[in-house]
Amino acid sequence: MNDSITSAEWVNPLRDPRDLRLPRIAGPCSIVIFGVTGDLSRKKLLPAIYDLANRGLLPPSFGLTGFARRDWTEDHFKDFVRENVIAHCRTPFKESTWTQLAAGIRFVQGTFEDKKAFERLSNTVAELDRDRGTRGNHAFYMSVPPRDFPIVARQLADCGLSRSSEGAWRRVIIEKPFGHDLASAKALDHVVSEVFDPSSVFRIDHYLGKETVQNILALRFANAMYEPIWNANYVDHVQITMAEDIGVAGRAGYYDGIGAARDIIQNHLLQLLALTAMEEPVSFAASDLIAEKTKILSAVRLPRDLAAHTARGQYAAGWQGSHEVVGYLEEKGIDPSSTTETYAAIRLDLDTRRWAGVPFYLRTGKRLGKRVTEIAVVFKRAPHLPFESTATRELGKNAIVIRVQPDEGVTMRFGAKVPGGTSMEVRDVSMDFSYGRSFTESSPEAYERLILDVLLGDPPLFPTTKEVDLSWEILDPIEDFWSTLGQPQPYRAGTWGPEEADEMLARDGRHWRMP
Ligand code: BG6
Repeated sequence: MNDSITSAEWVNPLRDPRDLRLPRIAGPCSIVIFGVTGDLSRKKLLPAIYDLANRGLLPPSFGLTGFARRDWTEDHFKDFVRENVIAHCRTPFKESTWTQLAAGIRFVQGTFEDKKAFERLSNTVAELDRDRGTRGNHAFYMSVPPRDFPIVARQLADCGLSRSSEGAWRRVIIEKPFGHDLASAKALDHVVSEVFDPSSVFRIDHYLGKETVQNILALRFANAMYEPIWNANYVDHVQITMAEDIGVAGRAGYYDGIGAARDIIQNHLLQLLALTAMEEPVSFAASDLIAEKTKILSAVRLPRDLAAHTARGQYAAGWQGSHEVVGYLEEKGIDPSSTTETYAAIRLDLDTRRWAGVPFYLRTGKRLGKRVTEIAVVFKRAPHLPFESTATRELGKNAIVIRVQPDEGVTMRFGAKVPGGTSMEVRDVSMDFSYGRSFTESSPEAYERLILDVLLGDPPLFPTTKEVDLSWEILDPIEDFWSTLGQPQPYRAGTWGPEEADEMLARDGRHWRMP
């Protein structure tokens, strides 16, 4: 189902006609955000909604309802939205856009247990339909901890807000984490599917909304030169890195007990692995894309020796640039005896003809050397080097590096002759594609793309239950193993993780790339 109205039906005066990147416009609808005063909503969701409005991709009648416990008036809530939009929006703040958006902003005060509050929500939504013409189309964004999903879902069902009807849709957007293991993910899914039709559930993995992540598919399947070498004949191994320089300050309640692997590997990194390793989909329709991702996730094989092929760490005090920072156990709100890992690295193998014998190394951590996410496809050495051995001493392995963020682009590493001299000395050089230099437009934020896709009912960028379950099946045995180990190995903040992780690759005769 696609609910877009074309620009032929409605020409939005705010939209720049030269901007062709997201040419789809949502039809009449509204969004209700639960957990609207939280960090994610303030920094990402509200600014993304504003940016969509600013780019002319939301209908003029768009409604935005915040549901929260705080005893605020509607005007107070509007000030809150405005403040956060100004602080975090990507596109310039324009009074004209704000005035139009603000006219559709509503606030419902209440707790998730309060039936009356949900009746008020139901009346608010009905009022938006009547006065703003949202035509019964409403999305509910659960920006709340998973423990609150069941009660919110039930309340929405009880007040009749959860079911789509003839010509009007209802959709629910669920933020990660989808449980903390396979069993809890299944339980959660059961609750959600009792209330919402499976086709109206959109699970967010915001990495899939990133332009550079979608570019993996363009790079692989729009070009002739990569696919012939994208396999075990040429590839030595693949490294997928998601490093952050920030700690967990402010998110202790969520992070402690969850840790790096559940927070990042289970979702973002396994999705990156799937897109890097999957076969070409028949089309980019959701069902075709998901079929390939599911197939490759099903082919993941865990190492037999988890002690040798996984590593965990926890950051200790250190320096982040010129700032001295505390260790994880000294962070506010963290249990001083916590065994939660802030760094995780694992080796996975894929049982397919294309990837037999090619390890995929995944690593993520907080308080590392710098913020960088990249996928490095590292190639085997040329089978024969017709040079003197001293000439290729500094030649590494060829690599294609997809730079997901920051400095988005693609780098190729290969050997080139050092100019001058009489000998054929070869050294590594880089060839770069940079989004910033090649395109004049800046990329939309992941949440802009994903929220718009929900409003359009466009599902390819949302992981399915099956993918979520498969990801937990991969992670659960590792988590079980780690839970028997006690304290993770400490690493100094600002470094590249624990020694254990270096040893893990050294055992395979390899080393981590320094991004
Ligand atoms: C979230 C994690 O999913 O991704 C956070 O819960 C992490 O811990 C964040 O900081 C990173 O997102 P990005 O887009 O900045 O790489």
